[in-house]
Amino acid sequence: MKTINHRNLLFAVMWCLFLVGCKNTTGSKQNVAESSEARTYTEEELYRPNFHFTPKKGWMNDPNGMFYYNGYYHLYFQHYPDDNVWGPMHWGHAISTDMITWTEQPIALYPDELGTIFSGSAVVDISNSSGLGDTERSIPVVAMYTSSKELGDGNWKQTQSIAYSNDEGKTFTKFDGNPVIDNTKIKDFRDPKVTWDEARNKWVMVLAAGDKIMFYDSKDLKNWNLLSDFGQGIGGHGGVWECPDLFELPVLGTDESKWVLFVSINPGGPNGGSATQYFIGDFDGTKFTMDKDFEKRLNENHNYWIDFGRDNYAGVTWSNARKKDGSMLMMGWMSNWDYAQKVPTEKWRSAMTIARTIQLQKNESGYRLLFNPVSELNNYRGTKFEEKNIQIKEETNLIGTNEIDLSSSEIHFNISDLQTGSYTFKLKNKVGDELKFGFNHTNNTYYVNRQNSGKVGFEEKFANKVSVAPRTSTSKEFTGTILLDKTSIELFFDNGETVMTEIFFPNQPYTQLSIEPHGQEFILDSIEINKLKFN
Ligand code: FRU
Repeated sequence: MKTINHRNLLFAVMWCLFLVGCKNTTGSKQNVAESSEARTYTEEELYRPNFHFTPKKGWMNDPNGMFYYNGYYHLYFQHYPDDNVWGPMHWGHAISTDMITWTEQPIALYPDELGTIFSGSAVVDISNSSGLGDTERSIPVVAMYTSSKELGDGNWKQTQSIAYSNDEGKTFTKFDGNPVIDNTKIKDFRDPKVTWDEARNKWVMVLAAGDKIMFYDSKDLKNWNLLSDFGQGIGGHGGVWECPDLFELPVLGTDESKWVLFVSINPGGPNGGSATQYFIGDFDGTKFTMDKDFEKRLNENHNYWIDFGRDNYAGVTWSNARKKDGSMLMMGWMSNWDYAQKVPTEKWRSAMTIARTIQLQKNESGYRLLFNPVSELNNYRGTKFEEKNIQIKEETNLIGTNEIDLSSSEIHFNISDLQTGSYTFKLKNKVGDELKFGFNHTNNTYYVNRQNSGKVGFEEKFANKVSVAPRTSTSKEFTGTILLDKTSIELFFDNGETVMTEIFFPNQPYTQLSIEPHGQEFILDSIEINKLKFN
């Protein structure tokens, strides 16, 4: 264990006292077994989130292979267990019954002679279409991933492989016919995401290939046919296309459904670095075609990003986990390639976002996806603070003179009479760090400003600008859900129509929340702060 000096020790103890129920969220089983380790607050553990998934040790990036089966949500992830920077990729693994409390499992896939294990997906092969079940009737889980082989000349060869599990995702055996899709020509050729195409009774897979997405189908998950491609010259192309996803969603309040295509891009995000864009259209079993109205709006103003904050990348959906109302479930990597390898944690690096529902709405401004935290999070609500009808004339503290550690909380607010003005929320601590976010009426944008939020100097791009997001909702009411952990904020404005996720590293926990008006006094109709409890 690393030795710590007195200042750090004092700081660590204070931080721990502030944190009601602070714990390592890698899971309750481990927490019980290893509580003495979890309670040793070495400096790097200061930034371990209270309720977002982090690996116990080592590097993590994209979520992979997410599926639901038999009461468990599975999350695999890009993982390098031997260092806190990106390296030879493995698939780490964690399980959860509610997508909130995770228990880390042994590593699921190790590099082999075909290469290291890049991103991919997993499906529950209910009819044993692959024949990889260990008896004719058993149900295998089949993972498809990219084998990425360094060629020694700065280039790599990326092919697609599969592995199967006959113990519900605990352990995998690599298929002996790998790779199932070879590649000699395309440099960036990766991140297969498999989905079951119900209408056509076949597997469909989307794969990122540089500046486009390739569509494949298969009857058995082993033999794949190239169908079509999509994307050259369409949408954002500031960087390489990665981690696609394709799924169908009902349009809220109608009998209609549409297909959604996610494409992550790095760099080229709306506020710099990594981000994920989406397209709405139809898929006829062969080809993805953008909806005409969507295409027109996209060409006029490309503001179709699943998240405008800088820290939600490579997000994809859970397989076999659609909610009863038709919504899908997703999670992203809560970091950005611009600085992910330099953030101030040592034992581990990176967290995942909160799990989110995805819904599709259509109104006068066209189709738009809505993202919100999964309702399972409500089960963790503890103490509640609520204030109503507060006239905001000047900067006003929202929890009175109380100082509460806000680093595991869920906040809802509602402002209904803001016509010409703007608002700024400020999260503060005793040492002058401040995280600001709000709405700016002059250019109709939401924003997050982490420039003075604590430790920001580890990489120039971390706080070089304020992140902004266009407000697309035309509602007169301003509503939002704010999710706060020790080192992250997730903002779901206008019922999830505009989302911003950002990480930060304060020198002490934030214990004050205030709101400030600009250009107009207004009434804060309600603010509800739910402390979240994780024991
Ligand atoms: C996205 C990504 C994927 C790739 C993986 C490698 O963050 O670059 O395209 O499979 O990370 O770790």
